[in-house]
Amino acid sequence: MKKKYITTPIYYVNDVPHIGHAYTTIIADSAARYFRLRGFDTFFLTGTDEHGQKIEEAAKKRGKTPKEYADEISAKFKALWDEFEISYDKFIRTTDPEHIAGVQKAFEKMYQKGDIYKGVYEGHYCISCEAFFPESQLIDEEFCPDCGKQTSIVKEESYFFRLSKYQDKLLELYQKEEKFVLPKAKKNEVIRFVESGLQDLSITRTSFDWGIKLPPSINDPKHVMYVWLDALLNYITALGYGTDERLMYYWPADYHLVGKDILRFHAVYWPAFLMSLELPTPKHIATHGWWTRNGQKMSKSKGNVIDPKAVADAYGVENFRYFLLREVPFGQDGDFSQKALIDRINNDLGNDLGNLLNRIIGMSGKYFDYEIKSQDVAKYHQEELQEVRNIIEALPPLIEDMKWHKFLEELWQALSVANKAIDRHTPWAKMKEGKEEEAMALVALVANILAKVALMLHPVMPKTTQAIAEALGFGIDQESYAKYIDRFELLSDFRIKKIPPLFPKIEEPLMVEKKAQEPKKEEGLITIDEFFKVQIKVGTIKEAEELPKSKKLLKLMVDLGEERPRQIIAGIKEYYTPKELIGEQVCVVANLKPAKLMGHISEGMILAAKDENGLTLVGPKTSKKEGTPVK
Ligand code: MSP
Repeated sequence: MKKKYITTPIYYVNDVPHIGHAYTTIIADSAARYFRLRGFDTFFLTGTDEHGQKIEEAAKKRGKTPKEYADEISAKFKALWDEFEISYDKFIRTTDPEHIAGVQKAFEKMYQKGDIYKGVYEGHYCISCEAFFPESQLIDEEFCPDCGKQTSIVKEESYFFRLSKYQDKLLELYQKEEKFVLPKAKKNEVIRFVESGLQDLSITRTSFDWGIKLPPSINDPKHVMYVWLDALLNYITALGYGTDERLMYYWPADYHLVGKDILRFHAVYWPAFLMSLELPTPKHIATHGWWTRNGQKMSKSKGNVIDPKAVADAYGVENFRYFLLREVPFGQDGDFSQKALIDRINNDLGNDLGNLLNRIIGMSGKYFDYEIKSQDVAKYHQEELQEVRNIIEALPPLIEDMKWHKFLEELWQALSVANKAIDRHTPWAKMKEGKEEEAMALVALVANILAKVALMLHPVMPKTTQAIAEALGFGIDQESYAKYIDRFELLSDFRIKKIPPLFPKIEEPLMVEKKAQEPKKEEGLITIDEFFKVQIKVGTIKEAEELPKSKKLLKLMVDLGEERPRQIIAGIKEYYTPKELIGEQVCVVANLKPAKLMGHISEGMILAAKDENGLTLVGPKTSKKEGTPVK
């Protein structure tokens, strides 16, 4: 039997689910439902990613153990997916014993093969992305190039994976598998990254505990595994890799659904790990863009996160599923707004689909006592049938390439054929003229188109399409898909049933959003209270010296009239020599949380103005006492 294996990323349990998570999962679910409908033996995996420093820290903040916290958030993901009708076959947690055993087996295999060696890692680590970066990739020598947050410096003993060894093999894979990354255009980014040279990857950490230990055979208890090695392996441990391998026949995955921020991990590291394990590589890494709010990526810290449950409660899960897939071309970013959602529900679903169904229910009742026969459709509507057939036949490749927006757009063309047929053939006029056979053929044509649309739309809107099928008197299953889509047969009889309208018109936004309520003109402005949160003080630079390894940073000791001068690390080395700074008065942000830069604590920030002519420190025009507030 033909098989399909579809996965979502496993979600970090440092935070509750948001619309971005729902998006990945709904796409994967729609794909899984589609392949099941077509008779594929389909395995659909989702789950939670529960180890790593980020989660250890998030749990600590809340006074919980990492496991307690992971249990709580993992359960929230599961509950949300159940509410969203997500038809997963397995929900994996990286704290599952079978996963842990499988990861250790994989590590052992790579180690025995000589693909893992011990060394020392020195460099920068972004906890938010759980990723290492060489200094050359950082922004201003300290900020993460992916998320912009401050990185920390790590110097620790580490095991390394020989990623560099797989550089050529990876390039061969991209060359050979045209659609390895979907959409195809995104593959170039990956190729460029690999061509720029792969460094071996640090795959263990010693500075925290919350991770999978190395296999007992290696006996090095200080180390825990790097969370991305642990996490990526979920795709095979879920099939029993290293424990009970009966489900491994699903491997390789057909689709790993991922967001663009985690493409590199899936398109570079993951196939390299698999090559080392001598397993086949996945068929497609299907990469979607981000949902944004007013152009900004959603994140809790920005306070612009949309709660998917709130949207589903207000607008209906299935309408929301349709919107997410239809609104944005797969691979591109899209802005969430209630207006766009309401337009999709009222126009696409209400006008194009819902009204058509209502008209058929109405006409079948009025003219034919709810009994419709298809026997004369071909006689009167050959052209329309052919048109719809052409549309339907072009749909499967769109789904297989994950072009969901295009698929739905094209599917709606079939509805348009039906709507136009009614307007052109005016069944009410035919009835008046006594041409009952023709009117019946028209109503049956439209009912058949609706039946086919319902079958195709089923993976995206499972319950709604069941309701449509029920109104038209047929069932949605694998058999009817084969009959009415693959073989393009017509339903012979319809026994139409009246149902309440599926998409009542929405007149105004149904959700109250804090952010959207703010008047536009205030965007970007802060209140005086917010300004006074920043304490700026006058200080005098007492000492200044270079940081040997840094091109940009100087270490300053600045007197702010306190017990002892503050140590401030400032990125001004290109503009000032240490000598000329001694005695200078500057303005200092005095209540900034201390941060570590290149291993040195910085206890404030000095203000400077920079334009194309260079950088100048900002200080009082005439000498002021140290500690004088700047307001
Ligand atoms: N744990 C890793 C994945 C490991 S897979 C072996 C992870 N988790 S995550 O919870 O941070 O993100 C999971 C998915 O949600 C990613 O595919 C990410 O792209 C997606 N989204 C997170 N925010 C998003 C938006 N604002 N919009 C769309 N999707 C985004 O990464």
